Amino acid sequence: MQGRLSPRSGDHHPRQLRRVRHAHHDIHTLQAGAHSAPYASSNRDHTMSKRLYIQDVATRDGFQIEASFVPTEDKIALIDRLSHTGLAKVEVTSFTSPKAIPNLRDAEEVMRGIQRVPGVEYTVLVPNVRGCERALSCEVDEINLVMSASDTHGLANLRMTPEQSLAQFAEIIEVTRGSGVFINASLSTTFGCPFEGEVPEARVYELTERLLEIGVQGVTLCDTTGMADPAQVERICRESLQRWPEAVFTAHFHNTRGMGLANALAALNAGIDRFDASLGGLGGCPYAPGASGNICTEDLVHMFQRMGLDTGVSLDALLEAAATLPDLIGHDVPGAILKAGKSDRRYPKPKWMQEAGL
Ligand code: COA
Ligand code: ZN
Repeated sequence: MQGRLSPRSGDHHPRQLRRVRHAHHDIHTLQAGAHSAPYASSNRDHTMSKRLYIQDVATRDGFQIEASFVPTEDKIALIDRLSHTGLAKVEVTSFTSPKAIPNLRDAEEVMRGIQRVPGVEYTVLVPNVRGCERALSCEVDEINLVMSASDTHGLANLRMTPEQSLAQFAEIIEVTRGSGVFINASLSTTFGCPFEGEVPEARVYELTERLLEIGVQGVTLCDTTGMADPAQVERICRESLQRWPEAVFTAHFHNTRGMGLANALAALNAGIDRFDASLGGLGGCPYAPGASGNICTEDLVHMFQRMGLDTGVSLDALLEAAATLPDLIGHDVPGAILKAGKSDRRYPKPKWMQEAGL
């Protein structure tokens, strides 16, 4: 049986221990291929894992903002396909109010309909106690609690201030105690709020501290509307890893202002090894004005692979899955590699060169 789910108690579920061990790395230890490290090294620990963890959120962050409802069986088929690409985790759906997020009103059906592949973790977004109860009834591996770092986005998105969210979460920790379900919390607007602007870094650290204190085991630092810049990302990620070495940190970026992959690299350089990304680059919070897609999973994997980093993911399998998206959602997707092909794509020489034997 599991005791209190505190990241500091040392009382970890075996899976949590495995995850905690991966919380840090150095970019140099990640170089699995021939390419040299593009970044200056710092004094980070070289003993850590060489693996990066890619977590797809397309069926949650992606589908929640689409203009049309993706049929339940199509959602299930896509998740089943993603489960065989080597992804570490899939954010299947969210147990939110169907009035707030009508596109994910089939959350139970989807969560119960998928085939769960060993080695893949299945998580769901949960805003409150009611959502937690629904998630537990589907035997999820992880509950990803969502709250905002800023009052205004919290109220707009969840009708809760950060304080009110924390009160819900404390109850959820009680309800889930002993269940073995991993408890993560996603902190929206960590890098800026579309209503309030700058979110003080001290506030981000205070909320992280309080989340970990009540028993949350992992924290996802979320750039909800693409306001983050790489220098800010590196600073906040580095500070968070330094302050809470036992917690599992994930980075979650949106590419709204074209800085998504740069921010992912900055997070990597700070020591982050878990990344949320969305197939095709879908995504966005319907209650954050100006929101647009997450960083694109296949673009992120392509970049990491080019750099010689190990993601455990089959890029070809991901691209095949991404190619099914336009039919599913009725429009083109933002992802770059799906359009351009991988960087080893080669074109035939111009005809005149061929004819001249050049
Ligand atoms: N699942 C299903 N239904 C829920 C629910 C949940 N987790 N939480 C609340 N509800 C229902 C209630 O049963 C109630 O239903 P009724 O009107 O039929 O009686 C209704 O929703 C209102 O409940 P209340 O507790 O007053 O919620 P609210 O209106 O204050 O909304 C949230 C709060 C958190 C439920 C809602 O804002 C929400 O789901 N937000 C999610 C936003 C989101 O996912 N954004 C994108 C991700 S960043
Ligand atoms: Zn998001």
